[in-house]
Amino acid sequence: MDSGRRDVCGSGLRLLLGLGLLRQASGAHALSGSLKWSARPWLTRLDEASGALSAGTATPRAWQSEVEAVLGRLELPDLLRSLDFEQLAASAKFPSQGEGMERLYFPGEDGRLQFLRFRPYLFTLRKDVAVVPHGHHNMATLHMVLAGEARVRHYDRLEGTDTHMLIRPVSDEVAKPGHVSSVSDEHHNIHWFQGLTERVFMFNIGVYEVRPGAPSGERDYVDAADGILAGGGALRVARLGRSAAYAKYGRL
Ligand SMILES: [Fe+2]
Repeated sequence: MDSGRRDVCGSGLRLLLGLGLLRQASGAHALSGSLKWSARPWLTRLDEASGALSAGTATPRAWQSEVEAVLGRLELPDLLRSLDFEQLAASAKFPSQGEGMERLYFPGEDGRLQFLRFRPYLFTLRKDVAVVPHGHHNMATLHMVLAGEARVRHYDRLEGTDTHMLIRPVSDEVAKPGHVSSVSDEHHNIHWFQGLTERVFMFNIGVYEVRPGAPSGERDYVDAADGILAGGGALRVARLGRSAAYAKYGRL
């Protein structure tokens, strides 16, 4: 989902930006998730960090530290208010398998949607439903639990072939509201989220094409639960296609 829908939304937004039609489009179906206020200092910090990552003046690891710190320092009730969380939650969709994703847009003072150097989303999970284990390439992304609880596992990607990957488990946590985690090519590349409560909400941001022009966006799905011990705490796991990954891991 990091690829198709995001690319459509991203290209659509870029087109709207190019045409200067954002104000008119703010009520359109494609932008129905638009938020209706503007004062969010943390948004500027996330945007600056993401701009530095895209420009190559900050490493993916530095981006991870910065955006985790920016969001981790916020008082959760303040963040929820600034996301108009109650309204978002009331209209959120919870698929029976896999995650729900809604693109978020932020109008500025002039009513036009702010151009951001990252893509924000609201992720939703039902109990026992998962964002299946996957890695990313040429991308950095962060998840913050807003409500509910999820089991969150991370792995480092050590090496890979077309059919398999060598990974090392690095964390396995029960993530509660306020928990932040991130992945990049450099650090904790693979993640896996399972809903532990009836409804889980996560704020997500992603920076794509960290290295301009290199492939980005498609997830690298892995069979994380059925790896073969490879020494040093590493696991040799098979790569999976998207449908196979969701068939096996999308719902307990
Ligand atoms: Fe991901």
